[in-house]
Amino acid sequence: MSSQDIPEDKHLPSEQGAAHHGGVAVADDPFADPGLPAHKPRIQDIDDRAARRSERTVAMLFTISMLATICFIAAYVTIPVDKIVYIFPLGKVSALNFALGLTLGAALFCIGAGAVHWARTLMSDVEVADDRHPIEASPEVKAKVMQDFAEGAQESAIGRRKLIRNTMFGALALVPLSGVVLLRDLGPLPEDKLRHTMWAKGKLLINQNTMEPLRPEDVAVGSLTFAMPEGLEEDQHDFQTQIAKAALMIVRLQPEDIKDKKELEWSHDGIVAYSKICTHVGCPISLYEQQTHHVLCPCHQSTFDLSDGARVIFGPAGHALPQLRIGVNSEGFLEALGDFEEPVGPAFWERG
Ligand code: FES
Repeated sequence: MSSQDIPEDKHLPSEQGAAHHGGVAVADDPFADPGLPAHKPRIQDIDDRAARRSERTVAMLFTISMLATICFIAAYVTIPVDKIVYIFPLGKVSALNFALGLTLGAALFCIGAGAVHWARTLMSDVEVADDRHPIEASPEVKAKVMQDFAEGAQESAIGRRKLIRNTMFGALALVPLSGVVLLRDLGPLPEDKLRHTMWAKGKLLINQNTMEPLRPEDVAVGSLTFAMPEGLEEDQHDFQTQIAKAALMIVRLQPEDIKDKKELEWSHDGIVAYSKICTHVGCPISLYEQQTHHVLCPCHQSTFDLSDGARVIFGPAGHALPQLRIGVNSEGFLEALGDFEEPVGPAFWERG
């Protein structure tokens, strides 16, 4: 559509009471619709030679695309699959893959570039505004639809032929069940696996760096130590599944700094053990600020106060970190006194 094809009233509006300045309406009313800026013709709109130049450019791009496609087919047919060539700066690459990628890329690029150049230089660039129409059907259309529906129902005799109607409803009601059955393919139900971790009474706390059992004297005040349960080996097939639930962080506080009574009871000589899995969306928590006893999740900055039951003091996490009750066994090693009493990790609370 050229600018001549656009009806006058679509070129938009100088509102009543608005004055124009530089093609843009400057209204007395500051909230008046300023309308669209006046259309500025491009060089191709006023110069036939420029328009023909653009036409030739677009045609050339489309022609290059055709040639590239022919080269693509020729490369596919002629270049052996195992031919390797050196191409700077890629190094040694498959000649066939390189040729196919290059020619197909050129073919697609030239089609896109040709279309963009065509649209920008030769197609009409006049902006047109059109009022939005109500999407609701008119009363006449609604009445006609209802009448057609009633006639269709009567012609199909669905009211009279109850056997057909009832079996059809039955079939329609049952058919979605096939989709429900397929949900079974999503895998076995988690059952209560999310409620439990490997931690159990008597399991030693293994330092994840040294892989040695931890003693209380190994945990210095102000340090952050990561631990996993005794018996979990990195080459185990389900190591990732288990560590994702059982990962532990251990911090030593001054017992008098622990504000939460239960936390104090579940600690040993100021050493507290908390789940390392953030209760927001499950990132491993890894930043500890020893002056404030805050730990920070690097993903969305949830902050937990380890001196106060690991309650959330900032960020999107909805729950405190679960604490593991610990003690010391007869040989002087730190051990768990049971599993976590609540499920660890994220979103579990919303699931069940
Ligand atoms: S996962 Fe820890 S704050 Fe989002």
